[in-house]
Amino acid sequence: MITFLDALARPVLHKLDAETAHRATVKALSLLPPRQPPRDDPRLAVSAFGLNFPNPLGLAAGFDKNAEAADAMLGMGMGFVEVGTVTPRPQAGNPRPRLFRLTDDEAVINRFGFNSEGHAAVVARLQRRHGRPGLIAVNLGANKDAADRAADYVAGISAFAGLASFFVVNVSSPNTPGLRDLQQEASLDDLIARVRAARDAAAEAHGRKPLILKIAPDLTLDGLDAIVRICRARGIDALAISNTTISRPSDLKSQALVGETGGLSGRPLFDLSTRMLAEAYLRVERQFPLIGIGGIDSAARAFAKIEAGASLIELYSSLVFKGPQLITDIKQGLVARLSARGRQLAEITGTAASDWAAGKALAKDLR
Ligand SMILES: Cc1cc2nc3c(=O)[nH]c(=O)nc-3n(C[C@H](O)[C@H](O)[C@H](O)COP(=O)(O)O)c2cc1C
Repeated sequence: MITFLDALARPVLHKLDAETAHRATVKALSLLPPRQPPRDDPRLAVSAFGLNFPNPLGLAAGFDKNAEAADAMLGMGMGFVEVGTVTPRPQAGNPRPRLFRLTDDEAVINRFGFNSEGHAAVVARLQRRHGRPGLIAVNLGANKDAADRAADYVAGISAFAGLASFFVVNVSSPNTPGLRDLQQEASLDDLIARVRAARDAAAEAHGRKPLILKIAPDLTLDGLDAIVRICRARGIDALAISNTTISRPSDLKSQALVGETGGLSGRPLFDLSTRMLAEAYLRVERQFPLIGIGGIDSAARAFAKIEAGASLIELYSSLVFKGPQLITDIKQGLVARLSARGRQLAEITGTAASDWAAGKALAKDLR
C-alpha cells in the first residue's frame, strides 16, 4: 500500500522544491498508524557493539532530524533509525534554498546547517514512543554559536541517555563552519574523552550506550590514521563512514547545481565513501565494527559496502529517487547473495577491503 502511494506521490513531490517535498514526506510518515515491522530473514541479523539488529540496513541521519518518522521507517523494514542531528538549543539553520536534487546524478546537495528543534523537543518525542520496539540512534551536534562545542555533545549524552539505543557523534557535517575541525587530533581526543566520561557517568542509570563517531569522506589518510588511533585508544564502539562530501566528482551531469555550496550525497558519493570505509577497516583491525554510508541504492551496492568493511549500512539520498520499496529490495538482494555464496553476513564483512583501498574495486564494475 505504501509502495503504491509512493509511486503516485513521487512525481508530485519531485515537482515541489526539495525541502517542501521532504517536509511533506516526513509529515505524512509521522501520521501513519504504527505497524509491526516485517519479519526479517534470520540470515540478515547482525550483532554489533552489544546490540542485536534484525537486519543491517538503517536510515542515515538527516532524514528524520527531529524524530517524527522513526516508527514509520522501522515499520517499513529499516533495521534501525538514526534521528538527528540534534543540537542543544533549537536553531533555524541556513537560509533557504539549502537542499538541491541533482536528479540526473541521483544525488543531493544540502547545506542545512543543523536546523534542529533542539534537545527538549526531540526528547519529548522520543519519550512518547518509549517502550516501543526498534533500535533508535541519536545523532548529536553542536549549536552554531556554541562557545564550547564539546560541551554541546556532552549535553546530548545526558539528555538522551535514557532514550537512545546508541549515540552518533557527528563531527563531519560540512555545513557548520569549523565543525569538521573537531576531527583534528587534539580536539578529537579531548571531545571523545569528555563524551565518553558523560556516557560512562550515565551508564549506571541507563545502561552503557555505545558511542559511534561519524567522519567525513574528505579526510587525508594521515587524518584517518589519527582518528583511528584515538578511537582505538579511547574505546569508541564504532566508526560511521561517511557523511557527505564537499568534493564534486568531475563527471556530474547536473552542471547547473554542482556549484551550490554544501555536502554532496547519493550515487556519486559511493566510490569515495567506500574507499574511506575500506581504508578504515584495514586500520581498525576488527577492534570495533564500521557503519558504511554513502551512495547505497541497490542490493549490489549494499553488498559491496559490506565487502569493503561495513557490519551495518545506512542510506538516505536513494530514498528520494527510489522510494521505500528500496528497503525490501536491498534486504531481499542481500539474502539472495548470501544464499548463492553459502555465507553469513559477518563472513562477508571486509573481504574486499584491500581491493577497495587499492582502488581496484569501483561502483561501475558492480553487478
Ligand atoms: C538532506 C540531508 C541532510 C543530512 N543531514 C545530516 C545530519 O543532520 N547529520 C548527519 O550526520 N548527516 C546528515 N546527512 C548525511 C547522511 O546521513 C549520509 O551520511 C550521507 O547523505 C551519505 O548517505 P547517502 O548517500 O545514502 O545519502 C544528511 C544528508 C542529506 C542528503
